[in-house]
Order: sequence, then structure tokens, then C-alpha cells
Amino acid sequence: MDFILYEVDGAVATITINRPKALNALNSQVLDELDATLDAVDLDTVRCLILTGAGEKSFVAGADIGEMSTLTKAEGEAFGKKGNDVFRKLESFPIPVIAAVNGFALGGGCEISMSCDIRICSDNAVFGQPEVGLGITPGFGGTQRLARLVSPGMAKQLIYTARNIKAEEAYRIGLVNAVYPQEELLPAAQKMAAGIAKQAPIAVRNCKKAINDGLQVNIDEAVVIEEKLFGDCFETEDQKAGMGNFLAPKEEKVKVVPFKNC
Ligand code: CAA
Repeated sequence: MDFILYEVDGAVATITINRPKALNALNSQVLDELDATLDAVDLDTVRCLILTGAGEKSFVAGADIGEMSTLTKAEGEAFGKKGNDVFRKLESFPIPVIAAVNGFALGGGCEISMSCDIRICSDNAVFGQPEVGLGITPGFGGTQRLARLVSPGMAKQLIYTARNIKAEEAYRIGLVNAVYPQEELLPAAQKMAAGIAKQAPIAVRNCKKAINDGLQVNIDEAVVIEEKLFGDCFETEDQKAGMGNFLAPKEEKVKVVPFKNC
């Protein structure tokens, strides 16, 4: 891999987009490598992913403008699909993904962060969808996910004006969950990931699926999705271990249940 770093630390893996000379902009090769990296994650051991960018200036400064500059209509559409396919893979990845946004998150950078389950950022982060200033629409899901994550009115304002926003404003509008000094960002992401990784893995996966799938349908269908995923947890070793520990006599209880992904 030229542009992706992949590190595993126990049950937490970190994917770093590593193209700092271009502020980690997403060209086709980066997207292909990200796709292959996701396919190779060992889901028997990894329970949470962190996605970040190399360096202290940029998370991802968007799709590669040089590569896009000469595309035909059909090639533009195909490039959009390429990004969307990888981002959908990330969004529907079985385990949670935390975006640790360490700087510029513009265009495709804002879009990839929105495909993650949770966004936290450094205090120098800048978010935005500057595409209309380049003569295009957001193309990796920005028109869809920003409107769903913040509000249609705020998404429209940001997208139509191509205005970038700083970390504090991103926090205020609910685009990120928390803002940290740069040096505390990755430790915070790792702490959160470890907190997720120690929970019952099948239950965590089912929560992600229930939330994601439920948001796409009406509430009557959504609660049925939840019922099925709730039911699916029963008879698992995780459920027996978790409830068994709660019901055990005080002296036999453990602080952290050693869930085994089964
Ligand atoms: N594509 C390709 N190269 C990029 C890039 C991008 N999106 N963003 C930055 N780079 C490159 C620059 O060309 C420059 O390369 P050279 O050193 O070879 O000239 C290098 O990264 C450093 O960038 P700057 O010199 O511009 O750094 P800066 O600190 O002056 O500015 C910035 C930083 C404000 C992020 C600026 O680089 C910028 O505006 N980048 C483009 C942001 C953008 O418009 N993103 C949206 C792209 S469109 C998109 O993403 C469509 C979609 O939805 C799929």
C-alpha cells in the first residue's frame, strides 16, 4: 500500500490515509487501497476502527482535484460511484468506525468522516463542502449525509455557499461529538475505541445495524428491525456471559466481562 497505513493494537485498528504531500486527498488509488484495507480487516479480533489522516494539518482535503479536472460526464459519475461504494462499505462496516479528524476535512474529507459512526476532531479541524466553488456538486455522499446529520437547512446553507466551518462550529451544529487539542485527539479516539471494544461485540454490531437500517425506514418498520437484532443477541455466549455476570453473587462478579465475539 502506498497511501494507507494499517495498525492493529489488540481489538482496535487504525487506518491512516497517508498522502500528506496532497493533504491526504483521495485519488483513485487511495480509494482502491482503502477498499482493500477494509476487506482485509480481521473481524474475529478487531472490534473498532479508527480512521484518521497523516500529519497534523489535514485529515482529508477532498477528492483529488487534479484527477477530476479532465473527467467526462460519464467518468465523473463513475468516480462518484467509486467513492460512494467505498464510503458505503465504511458506513455499513460491521464494527463501529470513529473518524479522528485531525485537520482539513473538506469535500470528500468531510464526506468520508460522515460515513463513519462517530466524528471527533482536533481544534484546528476545518469542515466544509467547497464543491460548488469548483463547479461540481459534492460527489461522495455529501448532499445526502450532511442533510441527514445536521439539518437540511444547515446542509443547504453550507453546500450552496461553499463556506468552511471551524471545529467549534462543527461541534455546535452536531457534526462532531467533541473537539480536542491536536495531541489529545488520537488518545481520545483510542480510549473511546477501547471502551467500545470491551463491550459485547455481537451486541455492538447489532446496535450499529439497528441504528443504520432503522434510520432508513419508518418507525413501525424500524422497531421491527430492532426486535430482530435484539432477539439475535439471545443464546449467544456474550449474552450469557453479560447477564450471568450481572446476576452472579457480588464476590464472583468481574469488572470487565471477557466477551468472546460469539
Ligand atoms: N486535490 C488535490 N490536491 C490537493 C487537494 C485536493 N483536494 N487539496 C490539497 N492538495 C494539494 C495542493 O495542490 C498542494 O500540492 P502542491 O504542493 O503539489 O502544490 C498541497 O496539497 C498542499 O496544498 P496547499 O498548498 O493548497 O495548502 P494550503 O495550506 O495553502 O491550503 C487547503 C490548504 C485550504 C486545504 C487547500 O489545499 C484547498 O483548498 N484544497 C482543496 C480543498 C477542496 O476544495 N476540497 C474539495 C475537493 S472536491 C471533492 O471532494 C468532490 C467530492 O465531493 C467527491
